Amino acid sequence: ASRVRNICCIGAGYVGGPTCAVIAAKNPEIQVTVVDLNQTRIDAWRSPSLPIYEPGLQDVVELARDGLDGRTPNLHFSTDVEGAILAADLIFISVNTPTKTVGVGAGRASDLTYVESAARQIAEVATSNKIVVEKSTVPCGTAQSLRDIFSTLGQDNVQFEVLSNPEFLAEGTAIRDLMTPDRILLGSLRTKTGLEAANALADVYAAWVPPERIINVNIGSSELAKLAANCMLAQRISSINSLSALCESEGADISELAYAVGLDERIGPKFLKASVGFGGSCFKKDVLNLVYMAESRHLTEVANYWRAVVDINEYQKERFTKRIIRQLNNTLNQKKIAVLGYAYKKDTGDTRESAAITVIGQMISENARVHIYDPKVKESQIKQDLSAEHRPETIDRCVTVCNDPYTACDKAAAVVILTEWDYFKTDGLILPPALFEKLSIKDPENPRLKRTSTSSSDTPSEGTGSSTEGSQHIKVHDSPLTSPGSPAEPANASKVMQ
Ligand code: NAI
Repeated sequence: ASRVRNICCIGAGYVGGPTCAVIAAKNPEIQVTVVDLNQTRIDAWRSPSLPIYEPGLQDVVELARDGLDGRTPNLHFSTDVEGAILAADLIFISVNTPTKTVGVGAGRASDLTYVESAARQIAEVATSNKIVVEKSTVPCGTAQSLRDIFSTLGQDNVQFEVLSNPEFLAEGTAIRDLMTPDRILLGSLRTKTGLEAANALADVYAAWVPPERIINVNIGSSELAKLAANCMLAQRISSINSLSALCESEGADISELAYAVGLDERIGPKFLKASVGFGGSCFKKDVLNLVYMAESRHLTEVANYWRAVVDINEYQKERFTKRIIRQLNNTLNQKKIAVLGYAYKKDTGDTRESAAITVIGQMISENARVHIYDPKVKESQIKQDLSAEHRPETIDRCVTVCNDPYTACDKAAAVVILTEWDYFKTDGLILPPALFEKLSIKDPENPRLKRTSTSSSDTPSEGTGSSTEGSQHIKVHDSPLTSPGSPAEPANASKVMQ
């Protein structure tokens, strides 16, 4: 197989940017150009202030983009999509694949508009052979659709080989995941040219990934494996969250239960923290995508099984807000509620499908005064997210975005932690003693539970967060939901909820 010398990546988002930065950093001899239609995003990728926050990303981008350590720069960002397609021998399609909002399958099926338009552009522009790689998460059968587009629209003398190479990185740990991936999945046709294309892409990864972690499978397996992986991760969160509801009614402690269950080697301790529900751009959309695939193949039981994963997630978010309302004498009207954390999980500024949007939205509907602090999310983003469901004047009246957590918490009736930032757990957020005094809350149902804690990560981190009696740090308890306040407390007592 001929070696890849020039890579184009269509889509400079959370996947395209970090993935290509690592590929470029590890393959100094390959030119990598990431293109996008969004000029602002490309400008940011070319600037010192990158469009996304991801630990370690800045260093990798600067190394390859700016040519540090005597390297020749080989990572480029551009809006010249055509030029990059023309020059490339391998093209990643890394565009967004949101859930369809209208038409057949609305609310469940994957919207392949952007994938299709990228493919059409490749077909129409290409004058030399291309390997086209599905990096976006897509339903089974998409590679065949792409092949149809290329054979219909492509020039006769140009060969297109389509591969599936789904991305398994998690936001917040993207660089670590890319540097030491559990596996690289390559789906290809089992033909000579298909396998050659897979080998050419495998060589790119082989610059830093051990060969036993690079797996070649057929295209259907590869497309479905990505969806299956996300579905099973989301299912694990919904499983533990559903058990947290039972724990609360039985006086059991979900963190103790998770610990005990996770000691079974077949189950394992990871991804087993109760939370306010998963968020992020992928889990919900990928589960719904699988539900739709099952439905459209008349596999009703399969569809129902996976739909319940999303149903439990919605239930958990609502349950959480209801609990806050109940704790505060069934009214949030005019009460100041501090919200610490808004991103859908720690170490990212991404707010897509964040549980915070739902929980805060419900608090706004109750006419609460919500004071929000997040270390990485901008005020404009928060207001834009909330404006999908609320009028601008309502948001202005009910929402204040704070620059520090202390202002947010000052004289609040409740402190609600919605993202498990380390800063809130172990890195030293210290609430003023006056506020802290009011936090001594006993659980009437379960006197063993200590004081409150918080954390409602969608994708729980793996630590064994525990609350420390008497500490003035907010400690993240594994289940924020299991730390209620006494109903007898006055309405203005501060409570930390997770
Ligand atoms: P994103 O929305 O951050 O980035 C997609 C980019 O593609 C946008 O900047 C958009 O302007 C650009 N784009 C769309 N159509 C285009 C076109 N025709 N030409 C040029 N640019 C175009 O999306 P993100 O999060 O990077 O996700 C991309 C894909 O990767 C999705 O299918 C997603 O499911 C999948 N994925 C996402 C992960 C994540 O953590 N965000 C992890 C693994 C997979």
